[in-house]
Amino acid sequence: MGDSDTGSGANGTKRELVQSIFPQKKILFHSWFQLLLLFCVLALGLCYTLSSRPLSLWQSFPLQEQYQWFLNQNSRVNAPAYRIHPKNKVILNKTTEPSTVRSTSLQYHQAYPRNYHFLMDNTEVCKNKIPFLVLMVPVEPKNVAARDAIRQTWGKENIVQGEVVLTLFMLGVSREDDVEKLKQENLQHHDLIQSDFTDSYLNLTIKTMVIMDWLSTHCPAAAYAMKIDSDMFLNVDNLVIMLKQPGIPKTNYLTGMLMWNRPVIRSKNSKWYVPEELYPEPEYPTYTLGMGYVFSNDLPEKYVEMSKSVKPFNIEDAYIGMCMKKLGLALTAPPTPSQFKAYNYAYNRCEFSKVITYILGSSKQLLDYWTDLKKPGPPCP
Ligand SMILES: *[C@@H]1O[C@H](CO)[C@@H](O)[C@H](O)[C@H]1NC(C)=O
Ligand SMILES: *[C@@H]1O[C@H](CO)[C@@H](O)[C@H](O)[C@H]1NC(C)=O
Repeated sequence: MGDSDTGSGANGTKRELVQSIFPQKKILFHSWFQLLLLFCVLALGLCYTLSSRPLSLWQSFPLQEQYQWFLNQNSRVNAPAYRIHPKNKVILNKTTEPSTVRSTSLQYHQAYPRNYHFLMDNTEVCKNKIPFLVLMVPVEPKNVAARDAIRQTWGKENIVQGEVVLTLFMLGVSREDDVEKLKQENLQHHDLIQSDFTDSYLNLTIKTMVIMDWLSTHCPAAAYAMKIDSDMFLNVDNLVIMLKQPGIPKTNYLTGMLMWNRPVIRSKNSKWYVPEELYPEPEYPTYTLGMGYVFSNDLPEKYVEMSKSVKPFNIEDAYIGMCMKKLGLALTAPPTPSQFKAYNYAYNRCEFSKVITYILGSSKQLLDYWTDLKKPGPPCP
């Protein structure tokens, strides 16, 4: 659920989430007058909805159509034709035209990343030098500002603590894409991975699974990878130092900010609403908050295989938690859990020199904090 902003770019929503997880005292109404005003607005809105559209409130909810698509995908798969390999592996038949496949073994194919095709895959980036760590950043195609800020800050560090680190951006497609501009951007930086699924908030699980697909097919020799949102501060040095500590597992390792017993949100106007049809249980399995989680690079291939049989739902980080559960693997707490911070109240140079992640409010903050952190002189008094 920490992945809130990667597809929509709306800042602040992640803070809402974090605040809902770590409740803070908040004064909602400064006066009765504001409360009264809110009531009037709500009543007006309700009247309008009921009078202008003879539909239930749920049907008039704009996301309903999109969830409907999600639900349809689970029973009827509109995807290219497949053949089933003798060893029960599903192989995409690239030569055939899309057709409808009805098969129970394929019912979860909506999140299976090999149904989608790379438009840009930067095949070479991982072949020249094998990275110790790959940072994969889901980002909307149009969000050049976020990519540029990352390229000037944590994304520009290619050698960290003596290890090769690679930063790449993961994009879907959207209608307003300027294809030529994206190609130019990639020619300049060689860091865009794009796949042909629709880039949208509800499709973030697909985006994460395509990241896993890229890692397993294009960069299998890397030791570790991280999925990190585009609105994050990342102290790459501290992350590499953490990963090089003696006790850190080299396989089946997933760490970050651990979430235990998180309830599934059933309120239809929440950004994290998940219908019961998609995820029936009341709680999620243990997962790592989507803002930034780190894993050994043997896991992506296992997630890709799992996504054939784990029913997809629109909360990408909890989906990875579900894959871990189905794989029978436990999540690992970081050596210093407080290094994975979700929300900063005020910038503090000393603190930023010690953490690994922080959620930021804007790309400008990232540039400002980074410049300050990297200035000469010890960060702590
Ligand atoms: C897949 O392609 C092969 C040829 O490469 C063809 O024989 C087979 O019928 C195709 N399968 C489907 C399901 O279209
Ligand atoms: C998710 O991606 C698929 C594949 O591109 C697309 O058909 C679907 O409309 C997208 N769903 C949403 C809710 O954007």
